[in-house]
Amino acid sequence: MCLTLRLPRSGFPEESPREAEAAMRFGTPYDEIYVDDAFVPEKEARLSVLANAVSYGTGTFEGVRALWNPGQQELYLLEAGAHYVRMGRSARILGLDLPHGPGHLVGVTAELLRRNGVRGDAYVRPLLLQAGEQLAVRMHDSGTRLYIAATPMPGDYIDRRGVRCAVSTWRRAVDTTVPGRAKVTGGYVGPSLAKSEAIRNGFDEAIMLTADGYVAEATTSNILLRTGRDWATPSPADDILDGITRRLVARLLGELAGAAVTERRVHRSELYACDEALLCGTAALVAPVVEVDGRRVGDGRPGEATLAVQSALDAISRRRDPRHPEWTTPVYGGA
Ligand SMILES: Cc1ncc(COP(=O)(O)O)c(C=O)c1O
Repeated sequence: MCLTLRLPRSGFPEESPREAEAAMRFGTPYDEIYVDDAFVPEKEARLSVLANAVSYGTGTFEGVRALWNPGQQELYLLEAGAHYVRMGRSARILGLDLPHGPGHLVGVTAELLRRNGVRGDAYVRPLLLQAGEQLAVRMHDSGTRLYIAATPMPGDYIDRRGVRCAVSTWRRAVDTTVPGRAKVTGGYVGPSLAKSEAIRNGFDEAIMLTADGYVAEATTSNILLRTGRDWATPSPADDILDGITRRLVARLLGELAGAAVTERRVHRSELYACDEALLCGTAALVAPVVEVDGRRVGDGRPGEATLAVQSALDAISRRRDPRHPEWTTPVYGGA
């Protein structure tokens, strides 16, 4: 197969108009941001260039989806409580304090979206950052600041019609270096390198291996794969972020396809031999993997179970489907 890529001077393939448009729209945050118990104009929510988090990557963040239902004129947060529980755990790993519990922060998030009048799909970005400006490299005695911002997310983060992946030369950091189960800001250097490498080489997304060569996850999403009737996904002991969407997808695979998903070590060669694979995450939602390292996954078309889960999760997230209302929180009706 001959791949023709348009390579501008940067060495990266040019973005498709669809990607370029999405990048522009995702980039503009809504006007108000929550900063330490107050709602302030976005322009005032700044961090010093001297803040420890800027130099040392010492902070934790989350991503929470808000999905709009135009028929109901309602916005729903997807598993917002679970994201703040994970953020509390990430903070504990870093030795930082998340100042409020999940219930309070879900309420703040809903208020933020209401104050910004958000009536469309959005992405909420909570950040707990080491804001002190000491030179010392350390976690203690440096104040933190909690931000919650939101940006519109009107299109796909990665192409939900099918993703072409490459196994990256960049590996996941091990738990004893930068713990992957904590969503640490500095932990995203490796995934950023991996993503750019994949794009530069003409792929859509990178799959990262553990330091000892087992499949871990994609740059910002988890991976599940099916061989015959068996679905597998790497375990949190393989240096992945224990994804919240992954749990929802495993549940839906059980309900829709009668499948049980096993958490276990996954070999790289399984990526090449499997019959179906998908990526899932808060930003990606559910995306079929159609190719890995130039080899077709299954027959090269999105898997049936993947498509069923993709559309079920989309409908459940907007309460167009009455199943699992416990996964969503209404933003306006709950006010
Ligand atoms: C490294 C990484 N893995 C997996 C995921 C998927 O996790 P979740 O489904 O909780 O968003 C994310 C996204 O947050 C991520 O950044």
